[in-house]
Amino acid sequence: MRKNHVTLNNTLEIPQIGLGVWKIPNEDVTQVALSALSLGYRHIDTAKVYGNEKGVGLAIAKTDIPREEIFVTSKLWNDDQGYDSTLRAFDETMSNLGLDVLDLYLIHWPEPSKDLYLDTWRAMIELYEQGRVSAIGTSNFNPSHLTRIIDATGVTPTVNQIELHPRFAQRNLREFHKQHAIAIESWSPLGNGRLLNDERIAVIASKHGCTIAQAILAWHLQQRLIVIPKSVNEARLAENLAAQDIILDDEDIAAFAQIDAVDGRNGADPDA
Ligand code: A2P
Repeated sequence: MRKNHVTLNNTLEIPQIGLGVWKIPNEDVTQVALSALSLGYRHIDTAKVYGNEKGVGLAIAKTDIPREEIFVTSKLWNDDQGYDSTLRAFDETMSNLGLDVLDLYLIHWPEPSKDLYLDTWRAMIELYEQGRVSAIGTSNFNPSHLTRIIDATGVTPTVNQIELHPRFAQRNLREFHKQHAIAIESWSPLGNGRLLNDERIAVIASKHGCTIAQAILAWHLQQRLIVIPKSVNEARLAENLAAQDIILDDEDIAAFAQIDAVDGRNGADPDA
């Protein structure tokens, strides 16, 4: 396995740190992605609903880095769920990105009230079998949603991207993923910026001579989680990538465990 990569259950390798581009406007994202690529990022995580797939595609077209060295993820939005509409939405995403093959395509939310995620998953399998996407997965799926699509199709998602950070460590959910060999991608790995003043993490950071953000990212990386921190700032992009060099010890991991909280969730509940 390549350094700083995670091997997915279909043998594809994914760079463990990626650039998350949620909330970066389309007109800004090209420059941010180009900065990230020149700093060494080789993984960009976007979604149709972010409205910036075109800007991401432009960065991939402009950079000198070969296409096959960049891992690109996008996500199918809720309004596009259903078999035929998934196939159409995928075409639109690929035209926005200007790509022939996508590395990873995710169902953005299960939306259980619509009851379309199983049909959607069947369409994702079709895209995978056609070779138009190298890996398929889910986002914000709970064990009940995952179990249903696995049992019905025999195809296990390669990844599930979920809200996960030290205040919302999702221990039970992580155990389920381990049993099914589903890699976890942590969205909002820095707790949406809300953990950046935490005094308990400041103690760990000062011990390692790093920033709080780096200590948090090191916590994810050490547990084999894939992380997609968002930043528009070049210095912070570099800082986040450098978290790959920090090694936490058992005492640090135990201190982080104290931060996990029952009300740690910042985003939406997937069941709602
Ligand atoms: P900015 O884009 O101005 O750097 P999350 O990924 O958990 O949702 O957190 C993203 C937020 O954290 C953004 O507001 C981003 O702001 C900020 N951020 C990202 N990296 C760092 C860092 N290394 N230090 C401080 N803030 C950061």
